[in-house]
Amino acid sequence: MDTQKPLIKIQDLAFTYSRKQKKALDGITLTIKERESVAIVGPNGAGKSTLAKHLIGILLPQAGSIHIDGIEVSQSTLPRIRDLVGLVFQDPSDQLFCPTVREELEFGLINMKLPKDEIKVRVAQAAQTMNIAHLLQKPSHHLSGGEKKRVAIAATLAMQPKVTIMDEPTANLDPQNEKVLIDLINSLSCTKIIISHDLPILFQICQRVIIMVGGQIIRDCSMRDFIFDRNLIVEHGLDFRFKCKCCRAIHPERFQDS
Ligand SMILES: Nc1ncnc2c1ncn2[C@@H]1O[C@H](COP(=O)(O)OP(=O)(O)OP(=O)(O)O)[C@@H](O)[C@H]1O
Ligand SMILES: [Mg+2]
Repeated sequence: MDTQKPLIKIQDLAFTYSRKQKKALDGITLTIKERESVAIVGPNGAGKSTLAKHLIGILLPQAGSIHIDGIEVSQSTLPRIRDLVGLVFQDPSDQLFCPTVREELEFGLINMKLPKDEIKVRVAQAAQTMNIAHLLQKPSHHLSGGEKKRVAIAATLAMQPKVTIMDEPTANLDPQNEKVLIDLINSLSCTKIIISHDLPILFQICQRVIIMVGGQIIRDCSMRDFIFDRNLIVEHGLDFRFKCKCCRAIHPERFQDS
């Protein structure tokens, strides 16, 4: 029996950045249940990041509505929405603004009015998990791309949101940190929305796939159905056979039986 309750409800959501442009989101209707792990995929410009920004209220609906845990996303509910939802931005430079990495990790926790001791513990845990403890005193604008991404992820996870959204979380990460992140995401019991072009990684994390094209959802299916539908994958620019071919070229003997 399916006992998970709906946590995110989006109804007829539409959004245009400027009057001259076509809609970046066009009639998005979607329900995500508590503790689901959902992949959002689609070509560049499909509207994935625009949708993510709506879920945390950085952009507000021009038409339609979004409810998270029964709260409608609007200007007046933003503080409550930001306690519920954490977003790791596609570009960490859009997310990081504090003088040091430590302050970056503390910022959201101070806003949540957590006790000082709790903040200290959460910062230390998040820093250790994302392997950034040695960077805590550094200014975030002096970090490498991958280090910035790890700080942005740590800052979001430290807040322990009920919904964690990650927009291209593995971009810029080296393979070792990529693996650390995948294990970490899999260990989280919250609701997860992962936006990525990296299908093999999504396959490790998500059970459901939403495909967006031109601001619309054109398919909502299980990862299993998606992964075995080669036409669908190729049609939407997610073909990973070239990647597999590259791996085979490096270690042909390891792929002999595959
Ligand atoms: N700040 C902005 N101002 C104007 N138009 C924008 C802005 N941000 C995005 N757009 C436009 O909105 C559409 C959706 O963009 P969005 O960033 O949501 O796509 P995406 O699916 O996340 O793409 P990608 O895979 O490249 O990250 C695109 O046509 C884009 O050019
Ligand atoms: Mg994007």
